[in-house]
Amino acid sequence: MERLTKRQLVASLARILAARPRAPRSVAGNPLLRTILERRTRRRFRDEDVAPDEREAILEAGRLAPSTVNLQTWTFLPFDREQWRRTFSRPLPLGAPWAVMILADTRRARRAFEFPAAPLCDHTVGVMNASLAAMSMVLAAEALGLGSCLLSETGKTGFYDAAELADVLVLPAGVLPLVTAVFGRPLSGRPRPVMPPKLPVEAVAPAGGYRDADAAVLAAWRRQMQAGYQAATGGRSFAGQLAHYARRIGEAEAGLRRLVLGDGPDAAAGGRGKGL
Ligand SMILES: Cc1cc2nc3c(=O)[nH]c(=O)nc-3n(C[C@H](O)[C@H](O)[C@H](O)COP(=O)(O)O)c2cc1C
Repeated sequence: MERLTKRQLVASLARILAARPRAPRSVAGNPLLRTILERRTRRRFRDEDVAPDEREAILEAGRLAPSTVNLQTWTFLPFDREQWRRTFSRPLPLGAPWAVMILADTRRARRAFEFPAAPLCDHTVGVMNASLAAMSMVLAAEALGLGSCLLSETGKTGFYDAAELADVLVLPAGVLPLVTAVFGRPLSGRPRPVMPPKLPVEAVAPAGGYRDADAAVLAAWRRQMQAGYQAATGGRSFAGQLAHYARRIGEAEAGLRRLVLGDGPDAAAGGRGKGL
């Protein structure tokens, strides 16, 4: 991967810092819209609990999320710091006081309605619905003045570690750990985190049908991602980080094949697999 020239670095950082959520003036004041557009992932929290009524409201937002045929293909596992430490023998990630692990779970609906086995269909439905529930919880937290971070990797908390988590949590077939949302109160007196580089609307919502995003747009985005990463990490190698992700994806793929499709060493012995 090319190194950024100083000029590219400065220009990319300037574009990141200048970017703002955009909404037409006629609707920009809508409080829910503002909550959605201004939400940013938080990775540092005050050492203060999430109150019981806030926890209840966040779980309720997940429970009432939309789902395919109202099948509600999810299970939420809440953890406070102590419960997390007891379960995983490590602190709750990012110093957060509370977390909810979101599991894609088609087991319950399958038991209720006796659907035939359909691993890819089940997997897609389970992941889609549980992701929507996760987003509802994140937005509910935001509305309550809390911050959140969804985690697929840090500290063995999500799909990158699905196989290991399924073993630790003794999950049955059809239940896949998808993502962990950590919640906490944002540090006071600090501005919102800077918005990471988002693609322009033309690249993600092309008018007139699907077409590949412009190569120059992709290159500018990649440079911003690289510049943002370097700025946030004090100059660590972006190429090194991409190589790390590539490795983790390879490992995660093997675990997911085992969990979702029943591939792998224990498949012949009737392993967990056989569909989500
Ligand atoms: C499914 C999912 C998994 C994520 N996993 C991680 C993670 O493991 N570690 C982390 O620091 N952030 C994680 N994030 C947060 C993203 O990095 C963040 O959403 C992205 O950079 C965009 O920033 P924004 O949320 O402020 O718009 C995850 C987000 C999603 C949706």
